[in-house]
Amino acid sequence: MVTILDKTFGPFLSQDDIERRIGEMAAQINEDYHGKTPIFIVVLNGAFLFASELLKRLDLSCEVSFVRLASYEHLASTGTVREIMGLQEDIKDRDVVVIEDIVDTGLTMHQLLQQLQSKQPSSLVVATLLHKPEALVAPVTLQYAGFEIENKFVVGYGLDYDGLGRNLNAIYVLQQPS
Ligand code: XMP
Ligand code: MG
Repeated sequence: MVTILDKTFGPFLSQDDIERRIGEMAAQINEDYHGKTPIFIVVLNGAFLFASELLKRLDLSCEVSFVRLASYEHLASTGTVREIMGLQEDIKDRDVVVIEDIVDTGLTMHQLLQQLQSKQPSSLVVATLLHKPEALVAPVTLQYAGFEIENKFVVGYGLDYDGLGRNLNAIYVLQQPS
């Protein structure tokens, strides 16, 4: 169990589970982008640990860049996505892979994909560590998804509760008071 501020979180995915799955995702990406030079766009803050574990397993010539977005406050999506730090690189005619920690309602990813698509990449896909299919309200296709999870709030491995818990080396789920 981990306590963050006023909330208690129980074990959900171990570091071994997570990193084994990231290894599988990396193998698939290595195969799919063989001979290409993709650009990976990491969505900060949450995706930083997933991105580092994924990217260091890639045996590809590639670029890595970052955007910073925020849509969550406390435990729920606010429904509006704020762009805090935008993309500097030209992605026209590039193979783009967006790296995200979690796709929940899909609103963040839907908006980001629309923005990126308008810059005319030659391809554009998403790699997300976690995905909550039941929470999805915006249409997004996830080319690479690590784990499908229930519609519960999780922290750790980059994901935060009010800014805390990102450094946890595993993923924990919010315990409902009984
Ligand atoms: P949407 O709803 O736009 O949300 O798909 C995407 C962003 O919201 C954050 N998010 C979470 N953060 N535990 C967290 O710590 C969660 O269960 C959770 N669900 C969504 C996350 O930053 C993601 O990029
Ligand atoms: Mg995020």
